[in-house]
Amino acid sequence: MKKLGVFLATSFLLSVIYIGPGTAQLNTINHRVDSVLQLMTLEEKIGQLNQYNDDWEVTGPVTIDTAKASQIRAGQVGSLLNCVGTSRTRHWQEIAMQSRLKIPLLFGQDIIHGYKTTFPIPLAESCSWDLEAIGRAARISAEEASAAGVHWTFAPMLDIARDPRWGRVVEGAGEDPYLASKIGYAQVIGFQGSQSGDTTSLMACAKHFAAYGAAVGGRDYNSVDMSERQLWETYLPPFKAAVEAKVATFMCAFNDINGVPCTANSYLLKDILKDKWQFNGFVVSDWGSVVQLINHGTAGSEREAALQAFTAGCDMDMESRCYKNELPQLVHDGNIPLVYIDDAVRRILRKKFELGLFDDPFKFCNADREQRALNDPSHAASAREMAEKSIVLLKNQNHLLPLSKDTRTIALIGPLIKERMQNKGFWDVIVPGYDSAYVVSQWEGIRNKVSPGTKLLYAKGCTLDDESRDGFKEAMKVAKKADVVILSIGERRDMSGEARSRSNLNIPGVQEELLKTLRDAGKPVIVLINAGRPLVFSYTVQNADAILYTWWLGDEAGNAIADVLFGDYNPSARLTMTFPRSVGQIPIFYSHLNTGHPAQSDSSRSYSSAYIDESIYPEFEFGFGLGYTTFQYSGLTLSTKKMTDGEKIIVSMELTNTGRCEGEETVQLYLRDLVASVARPVMELRDFQKVKLKSGETRTLEFIIDRDKLSFYDQQLNLVAEPGMFELMIGASSRDIRLRDKFELSE
Ligand code: NOJ
Repeated sequence: MKKLGVFLATSFLLSVIYIGPGTAQLNTINHRVDSVLQLMTLEEKIGQLNQYNDDWEVTGPVTIDTAKASQIRAGQVGSLLNCVGTSRTRHWQEIAMQSRLKIPLLFGQDIIHGYKTTFPIPLAESCSWDLEAIGRAARISAEEASAAGVHWTFAPMLDIARDPRWGRVVEGAGEDPYLASKIGYAQVIGFQGSQSGDTTSLMACAKHFAAYGAAVGGRDYNSVDMSERQLWETYLPPFKAAVEAKVATFMCAFNDINGVPCTANSYLLKDILKDKWQFNGFVVSDWGSVVQLINHGTAGSEREAALQAFTAGCDMDMESRCYKNELPQLVHDGNIPLVYIDDAVRRILRKKFELGLFDDPFKFCNADREQRALNDPSHAASAREMAEKSIVLLKNQNHLLPLSKDTRTIALIGPLIKERMQNKGFWDVIVPGYDSAYVVSQWEGIRNKVSPGTKLLYAKGCTLDDESRDGFKEAMKVAKKADVVILSIGERRDMSGEARSRSNLNIPGVQEELLKTLRDAGKPVIVLINAGRPLVFSYTVQNADAILYTWWLGDEAGNAIADVLFGDYNPSARLTMTFPRSVGQIPIFYSHLNTGHPAQSDSSRSYSSAYIDESIYPEFEFGFGLGYTTFQYSGLTLSTKKMTDGEKIIVSMELTNTGRCEGEETVQLYLRDLVASVARPVMELRDFQKVKLKSGETRTLEFIIDRDKLSFYDQQLNLVAEPGMFELMIGASSRDIRLRDKFELSE
């Protein structure tokens, strides 16, 4: 049954092309938008540009406003955030329907990795490299949230992240622009469905525009100092992909780039987004980011802040109230032409029409549908599958894993073994009426998996972050009685997320010390590391027998971890962020430039781009991950070694499962432009395939290299493919390259 459900969902996603409104429908919508616009007063127009927080859940500093209802009734509010559930959204929509023009409200919410069903954190999902599964997770999140009255999710987060000190790496797809673009595209399609206005979909929001992940020092909200090429090459591609997927909205980033805050950055919002990319949705600020222009020091007053953000192209003001308070006078004084206001209002009204809210403002407020969607049992099955696909096997000495379900005695030790809510990670949604008790702990998942004869012993050992070693003795006692120890350690779930930057990436408290102590019991130890970011854990790398990086896996964490531990799922995830050996190596990413003094190896680093006191290698590289079987790569052939412009090269190779069980391999194709007018990275991911093979099975894989895959931004920022030699590398990770060749792009 599970299989059939998954098949149907998969085939649905494969067949989805987001249609959006057709030209005729768009003409009708534009016509209807204009007919509303001409009835609106200036105050009502500006009301549409104003978004408030509902009272009961807060994802930013609260503004107390007792007059919210009367403002909605007066048509002074266009949207609410943090308002979920059919009864709550109906409550506010009914008030909006008492306004003069009855313009419906939009309800926005951070549906980052699930609504009622919590999926793995986005960084974990990205490690699946499974676009269908990721798209399906977004689809299910949309089905649940849209049934609960929500119209709009503030996701996906498309910020490339190369600095694990930055807590928001948890929300994105890691360090690579190619992979993150594919994932972002799949998420937008998943959230928005196939047809604008269908009641199972949400509008998506590409955020945070732009380069938020490059905050200096990994400190959240910090400034970004960046070259144009870096911006175009690394940070903008996922946003461009979202526009191609017809994403409905964009959100400005909190940071400045080269001194210009993104919220007031007309180069980003107007020149690139609205003009060059022809984005016709609307742009919302981040929480309070309009008024924060005063903190940035580019605006001296709320009036200036509103003027700067609005004229730069930010259409909606989230919770800083500067638009509402300042725009009317700015228009009266002639500082802002009315046509600008009309353009922003049109963008927002168009979305309300596309959603069908003018025809039925309560379209998304059906309590029966809400009940059905939130209790659909197939959602848990998909969450479990997504969680299995997100677990990265980092070490497996002597094939310790998978464990036998008949193992006599297993010691389950550590502060996270019996936790439930921790598994949800950052950005879960508090859903009214559901107490979120449905989270499978690791203890429960393992208990349900093993044979009735297997004895499970438990000791907490220590807490997540204090210094007490009082529990070590009991943990030792338990470990000594067992055949194998499973130790579950990591961060607290709120240590990775917004405003959760860390300068030290160790596993907090005395948790690694607990592992040190347990080694003396002389039993094999499997370590589960639960975290929202890459951590630094060299002692564990050297001393654990096996390591699973479990991130935060959501509601089905315990089941998915047990599936992997006991071999019902052969781990297939691959890292999408480089794991440093030490904080001093940060930022560290695989697609760096070669430099004039390239570091060759740890044994020859004199006068090279290396540290004198640290390896040049990361702990675990981008693309790395183990499984329970092995794969052989062979038979690389290129249809031609000389590609003329307009031609394509077909690359083929054979992949064989040489191990004892079925498994999935993520075959990664990297390219390097060997000589170019500007220095090019030592390698860049340009394609990949995730392939499942039975033991002994061989499959021929084909990749296509076209001009697009060879292109880069030249000194004038033109996208060019320059003639010359390229190196082709195909492998199991960015370091484990199994096949290489060269080819030429001719004049
Ligand atoms: C601030 C965050 O930066 C953003 O990602 C989020 O969508 C808003 N708060 C709303 O909660």
